Amino acid sequence: MTITLLIAALFSVLSFSRVSASFPDQKIYGVNIGSWLVFEPWMAEQEWKEMGGEQCDDCSLCIRSEWALTKAYPDTADTLFQNHWASWFTQDDVDQLVQAQINTVRIPLGFWIIEPLVDCSTEFYPKGGILHLVRTILPSTLKRGLQMLRDAGINVILDHHALPGVAAVNQMFAGNCTYQPQFYTSWNYDRALAWTAVMTTLAHLDPDFASVVSIQAANEPIMDANQTPGYGEFQTNFVQVVRSVELLLGITVAGEAHGDLSDVSTSHNINLNTTLSRVSQLSSLNAEVQSALQVALPVLQEMAADYGMGSIFTFSAPSRDPLVTNFMDVNWQYHNPSNPSSAVMGPQAYDNHLYYSFGGVADATESAYLTSICNLGRVAADAALGNSPLWFGEWALSTQFDATDDFLKKWADAQKLTYSQGAGWLFWNFKIENSDLEGDYPRQWSYFEGLKRGYLTQDPEAMHNPQVCEPYM
Ligand SMILES: *[C@@H]1O[C@H](CO)[C@@H](O)[C@H](O)[C@H]1NC(C)=O
Ligand SMILES: *[C@@H]1O[C@H](CO)[C@@H](O)[C@H](O)[C@H]1NC(C)=O
Repeated sequence: MTITLLIAALFSVLSFSRVSASFPDQKIYGVNIGSWLVFEPWMAEQEWKEMGGEQCDDCSLCIRSEWALTKAYPDTADTLFQNHWASWFTQDDVDQLVQAQINTVRIPLGFWIIEPLVDCSTEFYPKGGILHLVRTILPSTLKRGLQMLRDAGINVILDHHALPGVAAVNQMFAGNCTYQPQFYTSWNYDRALAWTAVMTTLAHLDPDFASVVSIQAANEPIMDANQTPGYGEFQTNFVQVVRSVELLLGITVAGEAHGDLSDVSTSHNINLNTTLSRVSQLSSLNAEVQSALQVALPVLQEMAADYGMGSIFTFSAPSRDPLVTNFMDVNWQYHNPSNPSSAVMGPQAYDNHLYYSFGGVADATESAYLTSICNLGRVAADAALGNSPLWFGEWALSTQFDATDDFLKKWADAQKLTYSQGAGWLFWNFKIENSDLEGDYPRQWSYFEGLKRGYLTQDPEAMHNPQVCEPYM
């Protein structure tokens, strides 16, 4: 893999000078905005049922994913999902986040939100997630959500959660419940890279995206690295796509030399059409990266036409920090995984997820849980492999046993304490539907509910008992 000297030289400087003053230097106290733009029926069973969805243990066998619902109701699916997008995440939720002193959110997204990347003849996903067509009334979609978060001063991590071709085995969060994930193929890697180029452009040029600080390349790839061929190369290409788009947009360190592109960073009235076409001047980029940038331009043009986003096409050089590229950490996978730290160019961070309720982490007792979490070595183990800073992008209060209220306070404290040894944490999820169909999922999976019931402290930095771990270490 050749990396252009131009870019390499530029970003070795960037990584030291530009970002140090910003994200994620402040500890992350965050939540996921899950089940919004990637619907996970288990988190909102009542609404899913009302939309025409179903409940079954094996989610590939009934209407239990965005794919299955869109396929079942081709004429109404877009409207059904639009109603969900408008009601699941609202200004009231953002107000509650502000009250709870949440400083960062992670927004799970499907690849289908960039609609021109979907093969509509064979793939079934709802349309309109980035912005409703102008003629519809409901206002709440990605752009609207980002506006609210920007106005509230909350940082955003855009998480490519449900990838083209499906990246996880039989999971609702993958968009399609299937035993044959096909993400790990060049066609789908290429689509994910094009998605990245489009998102990077929007992140820097669309004012609605102003609080986007990071893009995550891929949520939870299959843990067995033998089943994810080409993933390491994808990681390298992902970083190069982000940095090349930024270079073309003139997001650079002041006073640096940029070869042929030096005019961009100081220009006014830049035309995106001509700017992105200059990708050929970055001729030593490999074919995948070149192609991702080339695909991005017509995609952006199509989106601009569909959604009235034409204003992003003329701009002054944006004074933005480069995005933090983000990957699941190297230790997420086993069987000799690729290390995302070898892809680094500029600011980069790593993500680990930890749930005890699915088994395999600790015995199902209070003391085993606390002993495990209080002695968790993940931050250090990752740092030893260059995966630093590390945040814990998903965790919950869920357990394999019936937890008492008293235990859940300790469980919250101990997890927060441990995850704060890294860059911080983002709880899964900001909310869970309150309905009889789910039993009491909100109790251990909803941040808002955890606050209400007093398991989580109003101030996210605080603990009920900062010494909670001492007896277990
Ligand atoms: C998604 O699911 C459908 C039906 O369950 C299947 O036919 C299709 O091939 C799946 N798509 C992918 C990319 O796995
Ligand atoms: C960019 O190209 C598209 C498609 O050719 C065109 O519709 C649009 O007006 C162009 N924008 C600018 C600012 O040149």
